[in-house]
Amino acid sequence: MNYYFAPMEGLTGYIYRNAHKAFFNNIDKYFSPFIVANQSESFKTKELNDVLPENNKGIVLIPQILTNNAKDFIHTSKKLKLLGYNEINLNLGCPSGTVVSKNRGSGFLAKREELDMFLDEIFSESITKISIKTRLGKDRCEEFYDLIQIFNKYPIEELIIHPRIQKDFYKNKPNLKIFKDALTLSKNPVCYNGDIVTVKDYKEFCNDFNSVETLMIGRGLLANPGLISDIENNTKLEKKLLKDFHDKIYEDYKEILFGDRNVLFKMKELWFYMMPMFSDNAKYAKKIRKSERLHDYDEAVLSLFREQDILEN
Ligand SMILES: Cc1cc2nc3c(=O)[nH]c(=O)nc-3n(C[C@H](O)[C@H](O)[C@H](O)COP(=O)(O)O)c2cc1C
Repeated sequence: MNYYFAPMEGLTGYIYRNAHKAFFNNIDKYFSPFIVANQSESFKTKELNDVLPENNKGIVLIPQILTNNAKDFIHTSKKLKLLGYNEINLNLGCPSGTVVSKNRGSGFLAKREELDMFLDEIFSESITKISIKTRLGKDRCEEFYDLIQIFNKYPIEELIIHPRIQKDFYKNKPNLKIFKDALTLSKNPVCYNGDIVTVKDYKEFCNDFNSVETLMIGRGLLANPGLISDIENNTKLEKKLLKDFHDKIYEDYKEILFGDRNVLFKMKELWFYMMPMFSDNAKYAKKIRKSERLHDYDEAVLSLFREQDILEN
């Protein structure tokens, strides 16, 4: 199996990515959180830092672009190519209201004629290889049957399917029936993404879909950054390893972010996903959430690691 780390805006930037690579080293491709494409000559500092080669040494990183404007996609692709990237991922999945209202992300899925013209233009330029991360549709899963006919017209490096629609956000269940159809209908290689959080989820998925060779995982890896070691080698995540991993991310954020509040904001976002890994975690979760100074945060994290254990499943 090939494993991809899903892009997650605000969470899986280069600080997190480097720590994950250093401590776990089992991801075939990391995807950057989306860069909004535009005509400007330079990237925003935050976007540039995230994709700078010196900030991603030894990591296979696929930058992701969010846009519905072919010229902007092409322009941004050229800038990314100059940085050394040979594959770019197009975001057709983002469900957020502000993105969808501009017909971007999963909002673009409802504008099929425009999408077809957009793809025609960006594939004609062929600046880099292009992969696509998509949902099944905007309002109905069945939209996928029209979409796949469009996707099949282009040599997509990989079609990464998160089988939900925009309206689902991250609720409801992935539609595995339509994903199964996607496997037979797609002329391009397909990667599955969605709700693989435990080894059991992985095994059940593989049982149903033994032809799938590539999985993208997001929240499951944020919760348990050692999930793939568990899947592949039955190696359970050790508390000490998770603490060292946490400390590395924390120290690196302290170096690049200005002020305790910004550092704590980042760490709290991460704990939202990691906390359920711990036994009896409610009191510690609250302490971490409420901490306003690094000192309070340090105490809460230390007591969590000292007093609680990582749950088996
Ligand atoms: C907080 C958050 C931020 C995300 N940011 C992005 C993003 O920048 N680009 C993208 O394609 N998907 C983004 N996603 C979607 C994930 O990449 C992934 O498709 C989704 O979480 C489902 O996979 P999972 O069940 O393995 O988490 C985001 C999801 C969440 C919850």
